[in-house]
Amino acid sequence: MAYISSLSSFSLSNFSAPLPISICSSSSAFLTSQIPCKPTKRSKPKGHHVSKVSCNSNQNTPTPNPEEEKPSSYNILGKHRRDVLLGIGGLYGASALSNTNPLAMAAAPILEPDLEHCCITDDVPPKGVIEAQVYCCPPKSSSPPIDFKLPKGTPLRVRPPAQFVTDEYLEKYKLALKRMRELPSDDPRSFKQQADIHCAYCDGGYKQLGFPVELDFKVHFSWIFFPFHRWYLYFYERILGSLIDDPTFALPYWNWDNPDGGMVLPSIFADEDSPLYDPRRNPDITPTTLVDLNYGSGKEPSVEQNLGVMYTSVVSGAKRASLFHGKPFLAGKQPELGGGTVELGPHTAVHRWTGDPRQPNKEDMGRFYSAGRDPAFYSHHANVDRMWNIWKTIPSGKRRDFKNRDWLETSFFFYDENKTLVRVKVKDSLDTNKMGYVYQDVAIPWLEKKPKPKRTRKAKKVAFAQQFGGIGAAMAAETGPSSKFPLTLLDSKVTLLVKRPKQLRSKRDKEEEEEVLVIDGIEFDGDDDVKFDVYITDEDVEDIGPESTEFAGSFSTLGHSHSNMNMDKKIKTSLTLGITDLLEDLDAENDDSVLVTLVPRSENVSITIQNIKIEFEKDE
Ligand code: C2O
Repeated sequence: MAYISSLSSFSLSNFSAPLPISICSSSSAFLTSQIPCKPTKRSKPKGHHVSKVSCNSNQNTPTPNPEEEKPSSYNILGKHRRDVLLGIGGLYGASALSNTNPLAMAAAPILEPDLEHCCITDDVPPKGVIEAQVYCCPPKSSSPPIDFKLPKGTPLRVRPPAQFVTDEYLEKYKLALKRMRELPSDDPRSFKQQADIHCAYCDGGYKQLGFPVELDFKVHFSWIFFPFHRWYLYFYERILGSLIDDPTFALPYWNWDNPDGGMVLPSIFADEDSPLYDPRRNPDITPTTLVDLNYGSGKEPSVEQNLGVMYTSVVSGAKRASLFHGKPFLAGKQPELGGGTVELGPHTAVHRWTGDPRQPNKEDMGRFYSAGRDPAFYSHHANVDRMWNIWKTIPSGKRRDFKNRDWLETSFFFYDENKTLVRVKVKDSLDTNKMGYVYQDVAIPWLEKKPKPKRTRKAKKVAFAQQFGGIGAAMAAETGPSSKFPLTLLDSKVTLLVKRPKQLRSKRDKEEEEEVLVIDGIEFDGDDDVKFDVYITDEDVEDIGPESTEFAGSFSTLGHSHSNMNMDKKIKTSLTLGITDLLEDLDAENDDSVLVTLVPRSENVSITIQNIKIEFEKDE
């Protein structure tokens, strides 16, 4: 019972530990099962019905019956889950708690999954469906999970850009996916089960273990975004390879950052007769339609804008791990404290661009629970994953992964190509070479393509004086349209004057600390697709896009929801953008404040913002 006693030295408020996750379990230990969580009911605003969708509405997977819930499950320690939770609850309640050992839980085993709340997420149903369940529990494992070991001596898998694959390769890939689709739907390697992984991990199907309150385990909007999706693809690729007996099989990546044939839907996904096809995509996109990496901005996409989005989200805006990866997600905390620049920028854009507007929730790619049902999803995420590798090779800034143990020890469960349940950790995902794969090199045109300022310094001064009549910064903030927080973003832009705590920063200062714009306490309904763009200027933001320096970044997310029994569907998160380079390029380094304009890009969506400030970010 080392785990329980180590908890006695904790205080909840200082709780900081890697996340063990819970997975659904039936009556034997370690297992995932067909046992559903208690159904949750809540009424949905905006004319929707009760909000539950079935992940297994697919053919032959039985719909679980909530009445069949079995209480008899054991954890790895051989204890009834209830006993364990009671024990924890008792300890939490004890007054003698101290916070002397915040890492004690690092060595704690994965506890018994939480039956009551496992694996049903409540997403918005297709129109006309009154009640259904998003049910994405993986099937049972007959044996305990094994710990992942980095492969030795396996051939290197080279992931090709999807626009340049050979016919021979394509035939192999099609055969592998065909076989994956043909597996019985309760086989963890089947396409249905692979798709459901994303549903369970992303829509609140999983809960954090061992907490008296129900806390979701979710893989978006935090520093586990990149590692989780890397592992997900790793096993998906290994399974495909094993189905065609080719250990060198490597997923193609959707090279959407490359105008040389990549910035379109790869044609391999467009053939209606191919297993790579998904009918639930935007019918307007063809393999010649330009991808919109700033999707939702209301502007015609252009290569220039797309390259600007890439530069801002990977180069200038992401000079620290916390900016690129996102905010920490620790056991006992809410999972969605803040995503990184790529996640909230081009990653979401491609999801939304691909999703089918004819579906109620823009399924498949436009919604987390269904995104994995589109084979293009895996190639999209391969390119997202590739950005992680590229980011680390850029010389400026401090682009190193976190050294924080809480991140490195975070673990996930996946089934491998032998149907074995494997426990993996973030720390084994940092180097794709060690995992056995690399990305085939192509040109990266945005790396050197620094956006240019739209306005000259002089023009800016004039505009500033006109708008605020030459009054001082503090006054300007007072008279600004939204001097009061919380601020509500509806459909018009909001400009604020934000104080800079330091001016004239030396080169050394800039190396040590990145100046960041923090937009804190961003709150919205989890069902909504949300987007707003952030500019460091107050002028003509409608004429300016990501191809200009003034564009600091975007906040954009897919609708998804919580499955909490408390029915609170609000998402509360944050956005942090690095602006050191941007201020240099705008010649604004000496200013004591900057004008920040937020441009809402989603219709009929209300976003609340608690605070906007400038801070300095060091390494985690
Ligand atoms: Cu888990 Cu692209 O999302």
